[in-house]
Amino acid sequence: MERCRLKDDIWWVGAIDWNVRDFHGYETPRGTTYNAYLITDEKLTLVDTVREGFGPEMLARVKSCCDLKSIDYLVVNHIEMDHSGSIAWLLDQVGPVKMFCSKRAAEGLRQLYGSQVDQWDLNVVSTGDELSLGTYTLSFIEAPMLHWPDSMFTYVKEAKVLLPNDGFGQHLATSKRFADEVGLEEVMERASDYYGNILMPFGNQVQKMLQRIGELGLEIEAIGPSHGVMWRTSGDISRVVQAYDAWSRFEAPPRVAIIFDTMWHSTEKMTRAIEDGITQEGVECSVFQISRSALAATAQAVLDHRAFLVGTPTLNNGVYPKVGGFMAHIKGLRPKARLAGAYGSYGWGGGGVKWVDSELRGLGLDVIDPLEFKFVPTEDDLAACEEYGRDVARRVKAWGS
Ligand code: FEO
Repeated sequence: MERCRLKDDIWWVGAIDWNVRDFHGYETPRGTTYNAYLITDEKLTLVDTVREGFGPEMLARVKSCCDLKSIDYLVVNHIEMDHSGSIAWLLDQVGPVKMFCSKRAAEGLRQLYGSQVDQWDLNVVSTGDELSLGTYTLSFIEAPMLHWPDSMFTYVKEAKVLLPNDGFGQHLATSKRFADEVGLEEVMERASDYYGNILMPFGNQVQKMLQRIGELGLEIEAIGPSHGVMWRTSGDISRVVQAYDAWSRFEAPPRVAIIFDTMWHSTEKMTRAIEDGITQEGVECSVFQISRSALAATAQAVLDHRAFLVGTPTLNNGVYPKVGGFMAHIKGLRPKARLAGAYGSYGWGGGGVKWVDSELRGLGLDVIDPLEFKFVPTEDDLAACEEYGRDVARRVKAWGS
């Protein structure tokens, strides 16, 4: 198993999960990696571990750097099971080590792994605490809600390397280890999907963290996230940091995403007419039929379009089930600063469009009046859909400009 030098004496010793396609409820079509980092200093230090079952792959890489029994410290930046699931197994292999984590992480580890944690040498650290490894010094920065209450970043001062766990990650399995090896556009597409599906609700916290990094004057020459590839060129680092700044402010290009489903093609016909209206105004439009699209892709579309429209038929006086699933996902992700709207068709009785409209308003978005038609839309109805699309496009162009 190949290790990979991130920078100086900091080594990537993680594991590649080529096959995961469902990551706690959303799709990961490109798999992922679980990244752990070994710092080979006087105190041999492992930062983060991997998902249960991937420990042997991680330790095979660690073995290429050092004797397993010589590991002194383990930093636990985040306790979600994709990073903590192999800790107990690891300790069985390497023997007791001194562990460092946030207060909330220490509480959470006990809840996740029970009384065995009482045998672990857990040491709580807070923002500003430092740990000397010999040549290198670790500086800890608590990062609550990025994306769990326990989350923490570790900064290696002398190497100018940030290890922010889930921050700046991507679900991307690859035999390449750096963004510049894969290609920046491809990596940013995966970073956007990751941010949209995991970090979107925490824009305020991302803003605070970016400000804190600025206040602390941290120079960053490489970033080692816990998923995907690492960032090591100044251009790549500034691109992803600037993207996090824009995403957390909910900035997005003036384009419209249409997310819909259809029962007997009436809502689909409305969708095509609305799409026509939008593009007639020179505004870019992306269309996702929910039953044929990845849920993760629809959330990513909400992140990177200034407006999104949700089309639903009515079923049993309510929302169409897959549209309801999309709305549940989006409601949890709490988008802000978006123009939104509901439309669709119904048969004998309505209800679906009204429900989506109400949910969008409940999110505090700028919601356009809903549009709905009974049974199959007529030529006049479709003309109204086109005008609705043109109206949305004009608003998108004017909005925020
Ligand atoms: Fe990658 Fe929040 O775990």
